[in-house]
Amino acid sequence: MSLRSEIADQPAVAARLIDQGSPAIDAIATRLAGRIASGEIRYVLIAARGTSDHAAIYAQYLFGQRLRLPVALAAPSLISLYRTELQLGGALVIGISQSGRSPDIVETVAAGRRQGAPTIAITNDPASDLAAAAEDVIDLGAGPELAVAATKTYTAELLAIALLVTALRDALGEHAAAVADRAAIDALPPVLTAALDTEAAARDLAARVADRNRLIVVGRGYGYATARELALKAKELARLSADPYSAADFLHGPLALVEPGFPLILIRLSGDAAADMDDLQARLGELGVERIVISDRAADVDAAEAGLVYPRGLPEWLLPIVSIVPGQLFAMHLAIARGIDPEEPRWLRKVTLTR
Ligand code: F6R
Repeated sequence: MSLRSEIADQPAVAARLIDQGSPAIDAIATRLAGRIASGEIRYVLIAARGTSDHAAIYAQYLFGQRLRLPVALAAPSLISLYRTELQLGGALVIGISQSGRSPDIVETVAAGRRQGAPTIAITNDPASDLAAAAEDVIDLGAGPELAVAATKTYTAELLAIALLVTALRDALGEHAAAVADRAAIDALPPVLTAALDTEAAARDLAARVADRNRLIVVGRGYGYATARELALKAKELARLSADPYSAADFLHGPLALVEPGFPLILIRLSGDAAADMDDLQARLGELGVERIVISDRAADVDAAEAGLVYPRGLPEWLLPIVSIVPGQLFAMHLAIARGIDPEEPRWLRKVTLTR
């Protein structure tokens, strides 16, 4: 039962990373801050696949909002297939990979380093090729992840990004803001523990959805990474075709898919995206959609057909680390309810080597 225990391990993994990972992350931030302040680093390029790519989406919002640094998601095949090395002047190149093994991700980071760009590997294997390719390494220290589906390494990747951005803010002179953000991060582990209490409700929700053959998952802003990750977990664990969209993109076309009774999960986080999600939730209600809401506000779930409430109290920028936990539990129970062993997703291996 690796999957369930790895999901349950997330509060301890987070507490360990906050405690033991911070000194190395602070040192990286101290080294990089001057290069950001001088304008030498003008943007971040992130190479990642699958679940780790969803951590990169989180980084787009956090680096953008907190440091006003644009984050570009790499197209790794440019170098691995097309042998085209981008001009990486001005970039901070980050590779995110729990295994640190996919050659296309390693090559992208290696290209950055060759060109003299600062490079960071965020990985659960500090002895991996990715770690060797990068100048700096953030070791997730999550312990072995044996289940094919990534869970604890995903939340650890998000947390590593939150710690790095907060440390950079501090090193750039925004000390008071960084102290407040760091206090919010320190409050995370018990909130993750409380989020595990959604399991019984997640099992009930899974039973409700088990006989469906398609699902849409929508999130906005900081909720978008969770929508992407939940949809991936539903596909690989439960073989349920689940399409993720940003709430904005969803209105630009996919909305035409829905009809009365269509199951749609709304990922809701208290904060700046909430009003927009209120409007979408109301509109979908008018269309007769079966709205399944995952939110930190009970009122959002009460106003929907079904849902899961995860713990309140964290700022919006940290909620992606918590909001995926009920989603992981839901996807695991969805697999079980559909008669599928979530420990053994068919056709998949723990490490996928893409070029
Ligand atoms: C999904 C999953 C995969 C991996 C992807 C990248 O649960 O595990 O999508 O996230 O294969 O793997 P790493 O992070 O090892 O590069």
